[in-house]
Amino acid sequence: MSAPPTQPRDRAAVLCGLAGWLPPRVVTNEELAGRLDTSDTWIRARTGIGRRHFAEPGQATSDLAVAAGRRALRSAGMDEVDAVVVTTTTPDRSCPATAPLVADRLGLTGAAAFDVSAVCTGFVYGLASAAGLIAAHVAERVLLIGADTYSTIVDPLDRTNAIIFGDGAGAVVLRAGHSDEPGAVGHFDLGSDGAGEELIMVAAGGSRQRSASGPVAPQDHHFAMRGKEVYRHAVTRMTASARATLTLADRKVDDIDRIVPHQANLRILRSVAEDLGLPSERLVTNVESVGNTGAASIPLALADAAARNTIHAGERVLLTAFGGGLTWGSCLLTWPALARTDRPHDNPHDTGGTQEP
Ligand code: COA
Repeated sequence: MSAPPTQPRDRAAVLCGLAGWLPPRVVTNEELAGRLDTSDTWIRARTGIGRRHFAEPGQATSDLAVAAGRRALRSAGMDEVDAVVVTTTTPDRSCPATAPLVADRLGLTGAAAFDVSAVCTGFVYGLASAAGLIAAHVAERVLLIGADTYSTIVDPLDRTNAIIFGDGAGAVVLRAGHSDEPGAVGHFDLGSDGAGEELIMVAAGGSRQRSASGPVAPQDHHFAMRGKEVYRHAVTRMTASARATLTLADRKVDDIDRIVPHQANLRILRSVAEDLGLPSERLVTNVESVGNTGAASIPLALADAAARNTIHAGERVLLTAFGGGLTWGSCLLTWPALARTDRPHDNPHDTGGTQEP
């Protein structure tokens, strides 16, 4: 009897390291209610958020990204990668990108390094970009970091937005492997609708409204959001994108063990799970303790769940996100056995082995 023909195994990016880092300063709802016309009861009822972390004055997105990146490399047992991708809405500067600086501070000088900008969908877009680098043989190992310091762009006196956002960074390491291994990322669904540009924006500081060409009203440098419309889009876009990903992968909702949505607001997350027909026990959320951390939110939720052992090797995980742009995206993966993950909240002064940031 002749041996069955061997099938070539598809090359794929495999998740092999994960970590999060939160700046030590915790801002409770009560603290916000001390300076804004709001209350812990209102914030919890409308968003499910109880507290969030803020960077210290002078602390930039790269500082958080370096701390999360160092921990993720340690989780993967790696000290070298071929590419560093940072996804953020709050880069250190509008030029240059934040990733080369982060790579340099991690001792990864020489690696390819660039930023991905897709607001709160940034992590899923970054994951697709990193997976593409590996699939195209451009890189064997990629460090992907989602990091944001919304406290630097949200008007602290704007009670609608100041209660929602927090700062943080989450990171994953991807290595070349095969599509049938646990940790292999894909399928993906990505999409956008630029007609919704004005629903989420920072008006000034780009080429449309240049800070250099004259005085700019202070509020135009602040993050602005049309909350009610964003809420509706977030639910419908994440639900549709999650369904599209399942169809691409020839999977059913029942095949999903954990859904990890962008942590926008607990009501949004519950609606997405409910609209998909997923029981609430399968919803992974840490929004109560961190708020909306933008591009950091999915890896921070994953790191928190992995460290608390609420996500297990072999489970099928669906990531889904929505953000400014408008943008949306989803990705499926089977959870791998990771050697080590620390809770992002643990040892807040531990930045992964050095005094930074
Ligand atoms: N505390 C108390 N009252 C507040 C408040 C706050 N922090 N923020 C707004 N309000 C008030 C409003 O002024 C309004 O008062 P009015 O009825 O007298 O005019 C009332 O509460 C209702 O405001 P509304 O904007 O309709 O509330 P909402 O139920 O839509 O909740 C958000 C507001 C922002 C929490 C909600 O729209 C939301 O979560 N949107 C999505 C945000 C998000 O997740 N964005 C990220 C997506 S990536």
